[in-house]
Amino acid sequence: MAAARAAVELIADKRQGRSLPPEEIHQLVDGYLHDQISEAQMASWLMAVCWRGLSQPELQALTVSMATSGSRLRLGRLPGPTVDKHSTGGVGDKVSLVLVPLMAALGCYVPQLSGRALGATGGTLDKLESIPGVCCDLSSSEIVRVVREVGCVIAAASPDLAPADRRLYALRDSTATVSSLPLIASSIVSKKVAEGVQCLLFDVKVGSGALMPDPDEARRLAATLTQLASGFQIRSSAMVTAMNQPLGRAVGNSLEVKEALDTLSGSGPHDLRELVLAEANELLRLSGQKADPSAALEGGAARERFTAMVRAQGGDPSLPLPLGVRLATLDAPRMGFLSRLDAGAIGLAAWRLGSGHRAPSERVDPAAGIICLSKEGEAVERGQPLLEVWGRPGQDPQPALLALQHAVRVGNSPPQPRPLVLEQVASA
Ligand code: URA
Repeated sequence: MAAARAAVELIADKRQGRSLPPEEIHQLVDGYLHDQISEAQMASWLMAVCWRGLSQPELQALTVSMATSGSRLRLGRLPGPTVDKHSTGGVGDKVSLVLVPLMAALGCYVPQLSGRALGATGGTLDKLESIPGVCCDLSSSEIVRVVREVGCVIAAASPDLAPADRRLYALRDSTATVSSLPLIASSIVSKKVAEGVQCLLFDVKVGSGALMPDPDEARRLAATLTQLASGFQIRSSAMVTAMNQPLGRAVGNSLEVKEALDTLSGSGPHDLRELVLAEANELLRLSGQKADPSAALEGGAARERFTAMVRAQGGDPSLPLPLGVRLATLDAPRMGFLSRLDAGAIGLAAWRLGSGHRAPSERVDPAAGIICLSKEGEAVERGQPLLEVWGRPGQDPQPALLALQHAVRVGNSPPQPRPLVLEQVASA
């Protein structure tokens, strides 16, 4: 057997744009995880990947190495299919809070390992934890227990699941190497492989409030994700969905939970409900199930699952949400139609109020957020409040109002309606 090459040779090869064989990719990931490859060496290799990309076999090998760097969830035999969805994140994206219990109410099992807020896009775990008592940091055995008892869980990946991704992600975050398409794809899919799901839907958001503002890049990510997942025998498909304006009307942790609860009770904003139902139907198709998601929302079955999941994760759904108070409004400068409601600016305003993390260890403020009283296309009168700024009593709304300065535009005529689901990438 040939002797293993030194890490510096592997880094130099990638810098020159050469492809590494799977065993050398594994050598890098394993060596890094066991401190035989330094932070500087791994960061150099990641930066070389940002410039040179990865071949399909390299991408597959990297994902295998990360997915198998720890243990896998052992869900055991379940009477229904295991399904999940992953969103690349957007402003006001509370789909998981509705979709996860909805799929459980339809007979599927959903072990969703989710994330915390990243920049201006909120994190599902932070949202759920605004319910008094809810804990998302569960051990693998607790995750399995909740899934088996309730049918669903929304939790952080426990330290034993894909630990290589956890370390690599932190390194990428501090070396400007997050926004590489193959690194994003391997990071996402490795966690889903460790989760052990059979069917998976990717929601790739595109627009000013998304990780990917460019539609072509979003399409490429969608295709890469589905192709990669199929290599692990996961039935998957992807939707490229609009993120130019926030999803629903609420942005911010407690405000979004409140809106998710409304949607779980059969009401809620039209766009949120439309996307939840589109994703539910796609997951039913992938898993070969026949059921009626709107009946499960209207009849209360999805809400019951949500309540059971909250209880199983230590929460008390009877306690009031820690909502803040309205600090200020942003009013329409003239009469007309709302032609722009910029998700990026609204996400930034909510973040400035405290809805996201400034440092990974910092806690989010569940009371902070923005309510969009009007959405794109709606008629508005001069002076009519369009946005509400929410926070703690006495909090200064000025930093948020500054971020919102150019967030809204009012035109003479309604803008062309834009579809929510821009593209569907078929399952492999
Ligand atoms: N989400 C992930 O899990 N990983 C990435 O690299 C980016 C978004």
